[in-house]
Amino acid sequence: MPGLATAANGRVGAADPVGWTVLTTRFTSAFGLSHAIALAPMAHAAGGALAAAVARAGGLGLLGGGYGDADWIDAEWARANGAPIGIGFITWALTRDVLDAALARSPRAVMLSFGDPAPFAGAIHAQNIPMICQCQTLDHARAALNAGAQTLVAQGSEAGGHGATRGTLTLVPELADLIADRAPQTLLLAAGGIADGRGLAAVLMLGADGALVGTRLWAASEALVPHGFQDAAVAATGDATLRTKAPDAARLLAWPDPFTIRVMRSGFTDRWHDDPATLRTDPAARAQWQVAQTAGDPVNGSPVAGESVALIHDIRPAAAILGKMTAEALARLGAYACAAGVTHDGQNAGQDVGATP
Ligand SMILES: Cc1cc2nc3c(=O)[nH]c(=O)nc-3n(C[C@H](O)[C@H](O)[C@H](O)COP(=O)(O)O)c2cc1C
Repeated sequence: MPGLATAANGRVGAADPVGWTVLTTRFTSAFGLSHAIALAPMAHAAGGALAAAVARAGGLGLLGGGYGDADWIDAEWARANGAPIGIGFITWALTRDVLDAALARSPRAVMLSFGDPAPFAGAIHAQNIPMICQCQTLDHARAALNAGAQTLVAQGSEAGGHGATRGTLTLVPELADLIADRAPQTLLLAAGGIADGRGLAAVLMLGADGALVGTRLWAASEALVPHGFQDAAVAATGDATLRTKAPDAARLLAWPDPFTIRVMRSGFTDRWHDDPATLRTDPAARAQWQVAQTAGDPVNGSPVAGESVALIHDIRPAAAILGKMTAEALARLGAYACAAGVTHDGQNAGQDVGATP
C-alpha cells in the first residue's frame, strides 16, 4: 500500500490516503462518503481525534458519547476541530439534556444503541439529523423502524463491547430482508467481526450497505486506548475474547438484559467471570481493575475488544485502515466477479458458480 511504513513494534507511521479507491454504496451516497465504513461510537475510545480522522478520510466518524458524560463530550468534540462528525449514545443511559446538547452541535448523525430509541426519535427527527439504531435482534430492528431510523446496524455477537447473542452472518441478511419488506429506503450497516476487506466484502454480499467498525479502529493510532491494550490485541487470537458481566460489575453499572460485554480474557476475567455479584461487593478488587484499565494492563484489566483482534497485526492511522479495507474489499469483489465471469451488465458469462437444485 502506498505511503505506509511498518515499524518494528508494529506501529505504522505515515499514511497517504491519496490514491485509495472509492467504494460506492447506498450508504456512501446518502452521507457523501468515500468508504462504506462508519466508526463505532466506542465509549472512552472513540474520541474527537479518531472521529475526525475517520471523517476526514471519507468515512462516517462517530464520537463515543457513551453514558453521556457532558464534560468528556465537550472536550472531545472540540478535539475534532470542526470535522463533520456524528455521535453515538448508550440509549438506556441517555437523558434529554445530553441529547439536546449534542443536537445543538448539528452532528452528522446520532446513533442510539442498547435500549428503546422511541423516546428520543422525535427530537432527532425534528432537526433532520439521520438516526442510526444498533440492533441485536429482530424485535430491536422492528422497534427502530417504528421509531423512524434512517439506518439500522445489525450487530453480531462477535463484536467488541456490549452486545447480545446473534451472529453477524445470519442477523445481517435477516435484517436486510426485514428492511426490504417493511422500509426499503432504510440503510443497513453490519457490525461485529469486520476488520479487513474480506469482512467488508462479505457483509456487502449479505445485503448490508456498509460496515460499522469498532475493534479495528480501537487499534488505530488516534484511538484513546492505552498502548498496553493495543499491543495485547495485536498479539491475541480471536479465541482470546469472551462475553461477560465482570467489567460492568467492576463499575457498578446496571446493564439490562440481554447485554453482556465482549472483552479480552485476562487474569481479571478468569477470577470474576463466574462471580460478578461478589465483585460488586469488593471495593479493593474494583479499584484494582480501574487502575489496570487506566494503565493499559491487559492482565489485571479487561481490554474491550471483539473477536476481530485476530485480524489486527499493527497499529496504524485510521485513514490507512479505511483505505486498506476498501481496497481489499474491491479487490475481493472484483476477483470474484472475474472468476465467475460476470460481465458489466451483471450477466454470468463464464462458468456456473451457483448451485442449481
Ligand atoms: C471498545 C469498545 C467500546 C464500545 N462502546 C460502545 C458504545 O459506547 N456504544 C455503542 O453503541 N457501541 C459500542 N461498542 C460496540 C460497537 O458499536 C460495535 O457494535 C462493535 O465494535 C462492532 O464490532 P467490532 O468490534 O468487531 O468491530 C463498543 C465496542 C468497542 C470495541
